[in-house]
Amino acid sequence: MSRKMKNKVLPNLRIERIAAEGKCVAYYEGKVVFVPNVAPGDLVDIRVTKGRSSFMEGEAIAFHEFSKDRVKPFCSHFGTCGGCKWQHINYELQKTYKRQQVIDQFTRIGKVDIPEVLPIIGSEKTQYYRNKLDFTFSNNRWLTKEEINSEETFERNALGFHIPKMFDKIVDIDHCYLQGNASNDIRNSLRTFALQEGLTFFDLRNQVGLLRNLIIRSSSTGEIMVIVQFGENDPNGIQKVMEYLKSEFPFIDSLLYIVNLKKNETFHDQEVITHHGRDFIEEEMEGLRFQVGPKSFYQTNSEQAYELYKVAREFASLNGDEVVYDLYTGTGTIANFVAKRAKQVVGIEYVEAAIADAKINSQINGIENTLFYAGDMKDILNDEFLNNHPKPDVVITDPPRAGMHEDVVKMLLRLEAPKIVYVSCNPATQARDIALLSEKYQIDKIQPVDMFPQTYHVENVVRLILKS
Ligand SMILES: C[S@@+](CC[C@H](N)C(=O)[O-])C[C@H]1O[C@@H](n2cnc3c(N)ncnc32)[C@H](O)[C@@H]1O
Repeated sequence: MSRKMKNKVLPNLRIERIAAEGKCVAYYEGKVVFVPNVAPGDLVDIRVTKGRSSFMEGEAIAFHEFSKDRVKPFCSHFGTCGGCKWQHINYELQKTYKRQQVIDQFTRIGKVDIPEVLPIIGSEKTQYYRNKLDFTFSNNRWLTKEEINSEETFERNALGFHIPKMFDKIVDIDHCYLQGNASNDIRNSLRTFALQEGLTFFDLRNQVGLLRNLIIRSSSTGEIMVIVQFGENDPNGIQKVMEYLKSEFPFIDSLLYIVNLKKNETFHDQEVITHHGRDFIEEEMEGLRFQVGPKSFYQTNSEQAYELYKVAREFASLNGDEVVYDLYTGTGTIANFVAKRAKQVVGIEYVEAAIADAKINSQINGIENTLFYAGDMKDILNDEFLNNHPKPDVVITDPPRAGMHEDVVKMLLRLEAPKIVYVSCNPATQARDIALLSEKYQIDKIQPVDMFPQTYHVENVVRLILKS
């Protein structure tokens, strides 16, 4: 098999299963063919888009039979927008494959002995479950094939999501099923207002244009934060947009903006200006209140975050005497959530603003046994730190998708905490890290949790016990 296979059509292949990253798998003469946008059970003709010696990639160009596990996608943007790629697969099967993904990553990447993986905890809400969406303004709206072929002229300004693998093309979103209706109303009205007023939408290639990005955050308490990023420092234009949002949507609790003249949309290093209301919104969990600022991470599915944290707390099995380290603590949510059942909790996190929120969150909840530190984990968690703090009885770690830095894993091996609870949104890097930790730890429990229905993403919690 080689590059010569490119563009060849492989007829009548059965889609067998779903592999990592959500792509489906068929076999051609014993070789794996990865295919997106199909379902296990489909019978298809596949055009090869990439041929390699050990695998191929392709696209389905004709369907002869449809899988019995297919369901009708509910969103009009399905297939274009990169968001909810599994809408065509029924939720029960989505959960099965997510759990299988965990098993596959641990056996293939981790190559470690695992106990029976617990049944996945599904999400009650399979739509409107996100508390944060990030929309991009663009003067280069993605056009459908029909629009291009019609030779009509269309509005090219758009406010929506990036098309996968096309950084400057934005699909104009009319309705998104990920966040409640206030979010759809705010986005659509702001777009209409901007078009009426002739405000410029960002030109991603030439880096000009006033309107750049819109972030809408909501919370379990019903509060709403809106952040508008501007690509030009035009006080009149900015005032117009912000006043429009303030008067049209008086229920926005935190109305913020940023003038971001950098090449990218990240704003951790930019000043956030409060136009109206507070500079944070609040989440609520078991009577605890959490302040979430514009730069702070908070799990994007609030209701499932509660399920996830309950698993983490149960796996930590605390009795009140333990010192707990909560690594990658974000706004200290897990730290504060378990504090009542621990002697002391130490939280560490990279983003200073999140640590400031974490401290406030302890304060407003009357929690006095937490300590928080800001900095890169591999730099903070060093010998000096350990000399100045009690050793942990339990480590809870919840790193980003990339997993833990090798130095952090090595430090955990030296620390020898009796228990590690490893929470992860990427079982591949989790399995890699746990393979290293298995030098001293054995896997005791594995609990997948579905935080993101309609996507292939899966959250996973593992309890590791120090080998005696
Ligand atoms: C998956 S989030 C977990 C947050 C928190 N446990 C929660 O549930 O809300 C990962 C966190 O790790 C932080 N982070 C990423 N890289 C880091 C690093 N090198 N050192 C410390 N924290 C880091 C991110 O800012 C983010 O808040």
